[in-house]
Amino acid sequence: MLLSPAGVDALRTALTRAGFTSNGIAGRLGSQATGGVARNDYRAALRATEDRDPLATLIRVFICDQTESEATVAAALAPLSVAEAVAGGLVERHGDGLRAGVDLEPYGDDWWVLADVPASARPGRPLHSEHVLGIGGATQTLIGATVRRPVGTALDLGTGSGVQALHLATHADSVTATDLSERALRFAATTAALNGQDWELLRGDMVAPVAGRRFDLVVSNPPFVVGPGTTTHVYRDSGRVGDAIGAELAAAAPGLLTEGGTMQYLANWVHVAGEEWEERVAGWFAGTGLDAWVIQREVADPMAYVNLWLTDVGESADPERMAAWLDWFDAHKVEAIGFGIVSLRRSGHADPVVRVEDLRQRVQPPLGDQVAAWFDRQDFLRVRDTEALLAERYRAADGLQLRQEATMGDEGWAVDRQVLAMPHGLRWTEEVDPLVLALVGGADGRLPLRDQLALLAAAHEVEPDELAEAAGPIVAHLVERGLIEPVTG
Ligand SMILES: C[S@@+](CC[C@H](N)C(=O)[O-])C[C@H]1O[C@@H](n2cnc3c(N)ncnc32)[C@H](O)[C@@H]1O
Repeated sequence: MLLSPAGVDALRTALTRAGFTSNGIAGRLGSQATGGVARNDYRAALRATEDRDPLATLIRVFICDQTESEATVAAALAPLSVAEAVAGGLVERHGDGLRAGVDLEPYGDDWWVLADVPASARPGRPLHSEHVLGIGGATQTLIGATVRRPVGTALDLGTGSGVQALHLATHADSVTATDLSERALRFAATTAALNGQDWELLRGDMVAPVAGRRFDLVVSNPPFVVGPGTTTHVYRDSGRVGDAIGAELAAAAPGLLTEGGTMQYLANWVHVAGEEWEERVAGWFAGTGLDAWVIQREVADPMAYVNLWLTDVGESADPERMAAWLDWFDAHKVEAIGFGIVSLRRSGHADPVVRVEDLRQRVQPPLGDQVAAWFDRQDFLRVRDTEALLAERYRAADGLQLRQEATMGDEGWAVDRQVLAMPHGLRWTEEVDPLVLALVGGADGRLPLRDQLALLAAAHEVEPDELAEAAGPIVAHLVERGLIEPVTG
């Protein structure tokens, strides 16, 4: 840990006593200054904390990145001594005062997360090779996408600050967290202790420290950045070439999961000229026997991608690094880099479902509920052949919309396109023909689908059996996407 066990207790006492929590800070600063802080505009927050009482000082040091006098910081951190806080790296000497040595972030209702101060806050200072990442966009993506159902055992691979593990502890009986970096594990251990949590922390390369063990839920925000395989910063570089880390985690999943277990991780994958990216990613799961759902959330071109990751470590001005990285992309015909979420489930069936899809539209959080519902729908579909599917009654999803494009002709509007759209959740859209539209429109939960199809067949003068046969895969698809929902009971 960064501090002794007694030091962690003392720090918790100081933070609690001062009210240095998300709510406490928001209450102290008010909405205008809180909004300013979110935009890195600290002026109003600094005006609101001129008193330098303990909460004000903690806000000035750890939120507004100010240097404060040693006596003021000592009063705010007491009963933790300044000597221990400096020795543990919590604060550092700067000029004739003290400033934040770590990112001590109030998080959730009453948690704190310890990480390194971001590169942007210390311009010119090279980022530590074992820099511990704070709570950024990718971290939050995984937090939101994780299925939050109660489980026995949970594993966080590459825990860093420990923020994923904190969340896992809310719905898992036991939490194991690993990291390659000893330094990161010290941060994670401190985060756990500060929040009164107890995780098993193990050091090692990816799944190596948990070889032979199985978990009900595995999450990972791994060092997923793709490139030539050079490692300068362990939080983003896996040392694996290209997107191999994503494939490696997929290959390890069957041996890591209990029956029915779920694994979710973030990944980058390359879009290679002349190759379908969906096929490349689907290939990761061949032979794993796992249901897989991959959602692509972002796509970046190589130049923007390299720029982003060089800026992230404060190296945006290094033309040689940039050229070497871009040359590697060129040599491997990489046209773009996709980013997304991989969700896997060990369902114990010989015919796993693998879906890889682009879902860059705005989705309504929390995604974790959508992922859980998607796997539930796979369970429903798996045990039903067409006959059984058509025997069920269905209801169109709540709020389902029809969007129509039509062209004015001599005989009035001629419909060009009809699209079903989910206004919430994953916001799927699905172009449909008039028959499917009639089917969905009539799905009010009263008639089994087969009877509904018989009525449609009569109205359109088609053979009921032919219609039923053609409808099977379409119905399965609509159910998978939740556009129609089976009515139970
Ligand atoms: C992107 S950070 C994620 C941190 C944190 N879990 C989060 O979600 O914010 C990746 C973490 O993986 C760790 N890591 C890097 N290479 C690793 C490896 N080969 N095996 C295990 N962990 C590794 C890094 O030290 C870092 O803490």
